[in-house]
Amino acid sequence: MAEANKSTRTRDDFERLPRHVAIIMDGNGRWAKKHKLAVARGHRQGTETLREIIRHTDDLGIEALSVYAFSTENWNRSPEEVAALMQLILDFFASEIDELERKNVRILILGDKSRLPEKQRETIIEAERRTAGNTGLHLNIALNYGGRDELVRCARELAEMVKAGELQAEDINEQTISDHLYTRGQPDVDLLIRTSGEMRLSNFLLYQCAYAEFLFPEVLWPDFTVHDYDDALLAFGGRERRFGKRLS
Ligand code: FPP
Repeated sequence: MAEANKSTRTRDDFERLPRHVAIIMDGNGRWAKKHKLAVARGHRQGTETLREIIRHTDDLGIEALSVYAFSTENWNRSPEEVAALMQLILDFFASEIDELERKNVRILILGDKSRLPEKQRETIIEAERRTAGNTGLHLNIALNYGGRDELVRCARELAEMVKAGELQAEDINEQTISDHLYTRGQPDVDLLIRTSGEMRLSNFLLYQCAYAEFLFPEVLWPDFTVHDYDDALLAFGGRERRFGKRLS
């Protein structure tokens, strides 16, 4: 069947769906190069893909979606590319926030907001505020995010609590750590997808991915369709998850 005519799947088509999907949206630069376009066009096209993937995730009733939009290392790209990504943040929220709010989606920004320009910071704080009371899909957008940085912050927070006598060191367990990450209250990542064939975690959700299944489709992010996403979700359903146990 031609890709365009293929219908997208619904929840009933899946025996088992992940509760939390994380996506490293890789390949925007290569897509732009392939089409002889500026890298900013690749990121813009990537944002279109993101819109479709968010809609489909919500339609399927998946609990949480985390996407890596800007890492702490991305500041090292050219000023033009960083500026293009910053502009996309504004454009994305301007065009999506009404629909996301209406659809009961809860937006959470993962990462250190303090280094973002003021306009971007205000925009994302407003998006979080507008959707804080929603009860549907957790949409986590990682901006100026690093997994190690998140763990360092967590360690500092817990150390402060111990110092203040609010917590005993011996009471710190895996749940305590989970409760002090950006994603507190959400399930761990069940499925991590990284597009473009690269097979690295790149400092994304290090703690939350402890037992995640990994899929690395070859397709570049701007070309990743909801059908590719459905295929990934079906492949997840076929994986045997052991969580360290021996299954007989
Ligand atoms: C990696 O591709 C992608 C990024 C660094 C940015 C991802 C951002 C978006 C898809 C859009 C922005 C999202 C929001 C919410 C505004 P790459 O450029 O590293 O690709 P390459 O490896 O082919 O060069």
